[in-house]
Formats: sequence, structure tokens, C-alpha cells
Amino acid sequence: MNHLIAPSVLAADFANLQKDIEMINSSTADWFHIDIMDGVFVPNISFGFPVLQAINKHAKKPLDVHLMIVDPDRYLEQFKDAGAANITVHYEACTHLHRTLQAIKALGCRAGVAINPHTPVSVLSDIIEDVDLVCLMSVNPGFGGQKFIENTYKKIKDLRILAAGRNDSLLIEIDGGVGNNNALALLNAGADVLVAGNAVFAATDPVQVISSLKNISAELQNA
Ligand code: DX5
Ligand code: ZN
Repeated sequence: MNHLIAPSVLAADFANLQKDIEMINSSTADWFHIDIMDGVFVPNISFGFPVLQAINKHAKKPLDVHLMIVDPDRYLEQFKDAGAANITVHYEACTHLHRTLQAIKALGCRAGVAINPHTPVSVLSDIIEDVDLVCLMSVNPGFGGQKFIENTYKKIKDLRILAAGRNDSLLIEIDGGVGNNNALALLNAGADVLVAGNAVFAATDPVQVISSLKNISAELQNA
């Protein structure tokens, strides 16, 4: 499949959020990646429902909501109502992951699971058929602008092998430290969705960076 690009709004200018949302609307990006942090599961707090609703009011592309919160079951319906198309929960934050995934699907959302850098993909072995998307964290969650962890390439390959014949439409998303320097290698390893925060928003021409991340597939096909 053609890969997807999901700029991470965490790196946007919150004082000019509408402008940055319209920039993404006008770009070749596929999704808005929305990082929700509770200060408990991760050592940082991002934003909550009022901001998400404000984003949803202007966004013309699906909202890919990444929940870095403990016990996410309490809020799934509210995230759906606030506009989430995809809801991704952390494996490490869910005691009853199977139940949580079914609840997300029952809301009509794509069900995602994120795993931290230290968590092996093998923990997903008994649930792989129930997942629409796996988000491999390529940094420790909590902050944008961190260095990409190279072991992620191995995890992409391990996950593709794990899912083969059991969930061939699984989307593998890579989150953290992604940019033009590693995007092609990640796609070659088997990634489907690239999240990019700082690589997009710290650039002088964010639309052009999004376009170059999106057009890498042409290089892949011609390789
Ligand atoms: C980290 C977040 C990421 C972050 C990515 O906890 O989940 O989505 O915003 O930012 P960059 O691309 O700057 O590493
Ligand atoms: Zn994220």
C-alpha cells in the first residue's frame, strides 16, 4: 500500500493552532497525529478535550489519537465524540487490552496499540487479529524532538512476520524521531504510517517536508 504521513500536532505552534491545522489540510499529509499525555503514564502533560475539539473543528483529515494515559477505557467514548477516527492505546497501560480494543471498534474507530521501545512485539501475539494498527514507539513516549531508536527497524520486521497470514491489513505506524533521514529505511523495513513532529514543524517549509516524506514511496517503487 501507499504509505501514510501523520504530522504530530504536539510540535505545532499552539498560539497559532488554526494556522498549523490549515497548513496540514493544504498539504499531502494523510492524518493528524494527536498526542494525549496525562502526566502519569508519561512524564508530561499535553492537552485534553477542549483542544482536541478545537482541532477537530478545523481539521479536514482523520484524527489519529495516541493516548499516553493510564486506564484509557474511561475516556474512549469522549475521544470518539471529540472526533477521533483512530484510537491508539498503550499496551503498557491496559490491563484488559482485548476488552479495550473491542470497545474502540464498537465505537466505529480504528483500534490501535502502541508499544514502548522496551516492549517486544511478541506480546501482541495473541491479539494481533484484533488490532487495526500497531504504533511502534521509536522514542520513549512523552516528548517530541527525541533521537530515533535504531532497534525499531528490527521490531518492524518482527511485527510483519508475526502478523503475516493473520492480519495482512495491519498498519504499522512509527512514532518518534522520524524524518527525511530515516523515512525510506523505515518504509523498506515494512512501515505503513510515519508520524513526524519536529521534522515537519521545525522546518522552514513544512508543506514541502510533508510532500517529500509522502513522495518517498515513488523512490521505493522505482528501487
Ligand atoms: C512522543 C509522541 C510523538 C511525538 C513525535 O511521545 O508520541 O508523537 O510528537 O515527535 P517527533 O517527531 O518530534 O519525535
Ligand atoms: Zn504520538
